[in-house]
Amino acid sequence: MTARLLDGQAIAAEIRASALPGVQAFTARAGRPPGLGIVLVGDNPASEVYVRNKVKAGNDTGLWVDLQRLPATASLDDLLALVARLNASDRHDGILVQSPLPAAMGKGAAQRVFDAIDPDKDVDGFHPVNVGKLVQGRAHLKPCTPSGVIEILDRSGIAIAGRHAVVIGRSEIVGKPMAMLLLQRDATVTICHSKTPDLPGVAARADILIAAIGRPAFVGPSFVAPGATVIDVGTTPVSDRGVIERLYGAGSPRLAAFEKRGSLVVGDVHPKVADVAGALTPVPGGVGPLTIAMLLKNTLAAAEARAL
Ligand code: GUN
Repeated sequence: MTARLLDGQAIAAEIRASALPGVQAFTARAGRPPGLGIVLVGDNPASEVYVRNKVKAGNDTGLWVDLQRLPATASLDDLLALVARLNASDRHDGILVQSPLPAAMGKGAAQRVFDAIDPDKDVDGFHPVNVGKLVQGRAHLKPCTPSGVIEILDRSGIAIAGRHAVVIGRSEIVGKPMAMLLLQRDATVTICHSKTPDLPGVAARADILIAAIGRPAFVGPSFVAPGATVIDVGTTPVSDRGVIERLYGAGSPRLAAFEKRGSLVVGDVHPKVADVAGALTPVPGGVGPLTIAMLLKNTLAAAEARAL
């Protein structure tokens, strides 16, 4: 079997196109576009790429995107002061602080920052008020990556209700909210993590398998039931040529791409899973574009709610 590839680019383009009339109507009504403040601290190369893509997609959809950069040497107080300024601004409807923050900011810094963002502007859905509402099934702003995964499933005609969904990873950003959204759609949900005994055996009982652990190619064919849907949330930059050659083979287009750039983003799912799964999201071009599309939707929703 060769898995059907679920085209995240195409699905994200549909969602972004469907947001356009709302953005235009808001802009006409409010006399200004919906505003999104993005805060990037330091110079993490992966974050640079994600943020560049978010800024471009926002601009292309007619949002006003205000990128605020702080140096890696900034203190947590500097960052909290910036968040307070964006909270008080009339032009910023949404605020996103890109994680991870520099390690020097200390353990727990990201949570302190997410706690400080006005919940009505929390387009990431990470504030405890929004997390609580998500658990109760009444969230207004839902985390972008998990809600993007639900869009991929829905728009690809993959049923969720009554199916067994296994989520590998229990992060606040993806694993936990992903499990909640699947539960709200009437899936039976299992959450696995590093201490789960027989992880491949548990994963192989999934109709829908979500890999969100950040370990390149960790999920091999033995984790996957024939015909299952596999969603790959991993995006780990790999700069070891040997790893890329082992995964994709000599002469593969992926190895050629690696040779050009010196590094390659690799998902959590091993390429051989394509021989077993029924449907699969690629990396890149799977979940990533959805994360951005849902961020734009959340920004519009936040702007509309604030304008009421
Ligand atoms: N880092 C990786 N994914 C995300 C995300 O969705 N939001 C933020 N703020 N940081 C991230």
